[in-house]
Amino acid sequence: MAPETFFITTAIDYTNAAPHIGHAYEKTLADVLARYKRQSGCEVFFLTGVDQHGQKVQQAAERENLKPQEFADRVTKTFTDLWKLLGISYDEWAATSNPKHRQIVQKILDTLYEAEAIYKAQHSGFYSVRQEQFLTDKERNEAGEFGPEWGEVVFLEEENWYFKLSECRDWLSDFVKNHKGFVSPAFRQAELANAVSKGDGDLCISRPKTRLEWGIELPFDKDFVTYVWFDALINYLSFAGYLSDENSERESFQKRWPTALHIIGKDILVPAHGVYWPCMLHAMGFSDAEMPSLLVHGWWTLRGAKVSKSAGNVIDPKALVEKYGTAAVRYYLVRDIATGQDSDFNEERLISIYNTELANGFGNLLNRTLNMAKRYRASLLQPIAPSPVSPKTKELLAACSETLKNYHEQMNAYQVHSALEALTRLVTDANTYAEQMAPWKIAKDETQAALLDETLTAMATAAATTAACLAPILPDEAKSALDQLQFESQAVLAVSPEKLFASPHQVQPPTPVFPRIDTPA
Ligand code: MSP
Repeated sequence: MAPETFFITTAIDYTNAAPHIGHAYEKTLADVLARYKRQSGCEVFFLTGVDQHGQKVQQAAERENLKPQEFADRVTKTFTDLWKLLGISYDEWAATSNPKHRQIVQKILDTLYEAEAIYKAQHSGFYSVRQEQFLTDKERNEAGEFGPEWGEVVFLEEENWYFKLSECRDWLSDFVKNHKGFVSPAFRQAELANAVSKGDGDLCISRPKTRLEWGIELPFDKDFVTYVWFDALINYLSFAGYLSDENSERESFQKRWPTALHIIGKDILVPAHGVYWPCMLHAMGFSDAEMPSLLVHGWWTLRGAKVSKSAGNVIDPKALVEKYGTAAVRYYLVRDIATGQDSDFNEERLISIYNTELANGFGNLLNRTLNMAKRYRASLLQPIAPSPVSPKTKELLAACSETLKNYHEQMNAYQVHSALEALTRLVTDANTYAEQMAPWKIAKDETQAALLDETLTAMATAAATTAACLAPILPDEAKSALDQLQFESQAVLAVSPEKLFASPHQVQPPTPVFPRIDTPA
């Protein structure tokens, strides 16, 4: 049977400023899910990248006397360097200034033009320079003004090209109502349904070159470039093989697309991914069954405030990795936030979660197990009898099975923090079991040899189960733990825990995997 396909994408990040903790979180979450699916035997295609066009990049480049491409390339490197440091295992890099992307955007624009789904019209109104969009009265606050979130607002009168979004509204409204699971968590789908019912008007998809040059030229009107969102959303198609000149790429696209999951932050659901994107796909001829799914995550804040360059409270993920290591940062980013909810970033918690759950928790379990295996059994562990001597051993093995079930359920529901909570409970149970069984005491009594064997094997089973489940989150450390236990993660997950040690099994002496962090925050 052909392996199942899983196509996962993240938002593509603006290249007008360096990456912050929010970007790092989204990519880590996607990476964890991609690795989990790969470990489960799926053929994964993980796409991420950078959104390089638009006014913000053009202006930032002008300020530094650079060409937009030079500026975008420089900032892009801070993203690719960080993803390397964080171990983000993407399969394809979507940089929107790539000529391959430009070609597909232009093909799509041509198709929509020929289908009369776009038209040219004169428009005058207020325009937010920061958000690069025209504003309507809906955007005014209670005082009747455009709030500071819109930045500089100017009055503009110009001709532009429009996409007939209004012709898709009824379809979209029905689609959102009738397709449970289009957006998760479910409360975000309800929020989207509400927004769709209030929306009106068409979407301006061009910017005159007199105002913005750094974009993809409209193939049928050389005086305009494509609006940055229209260009950016198409990355999910153009870098996945859609309309490719290569047969094999087009075939891959056919396989990938039906499983597409877009991971995005809550700020870009309405209108970009929840309204523009499905309507664009609908107009291009994608059927309802061919719509992607959206996983909407919450935001990291700092002392309750939004993280932003202008607020000056941006946390540099690179500095965090340099201070605490990749494992501590990856673990914290998916452990201290419930997928879909917001969370407040806290460096002390990063340290304390790492020390409690990894250094003192799992690290300690692994070390003491391998230490005692070496001391009392020359690192050779024995299978556990179908009826163990101690009921506590049976209980710990049952806890391993229960944890695995729970872990898979939570990972498949994208709730990584809950999956890690389940692992932490198992580690605590296993360390408590070690205290209660006190193998260091049993070892003194030769008549209890069988009990000593089963105790060490039960502890090693809990450690191997935890390590295998940690592999998508902490690939290097999980591998090191599993190497010491002499297992492959897939092999551990393929059998039920009580059958993991089916025959005498040689393990290695311990090498610490999670050194404690003693640096103050
Ligand atoms: N370029 C657009 C996305 C185009 S997708 C076709 C964009 N870029 S962004 O750089 O502003 O944001 C990229 C992603 O990071 C978005 O999903 C956004 O929600 C996420 N985050 C930005 N700040 C965040 C936090 N503080 N916390 C968590 N994620 C946040 O939007």
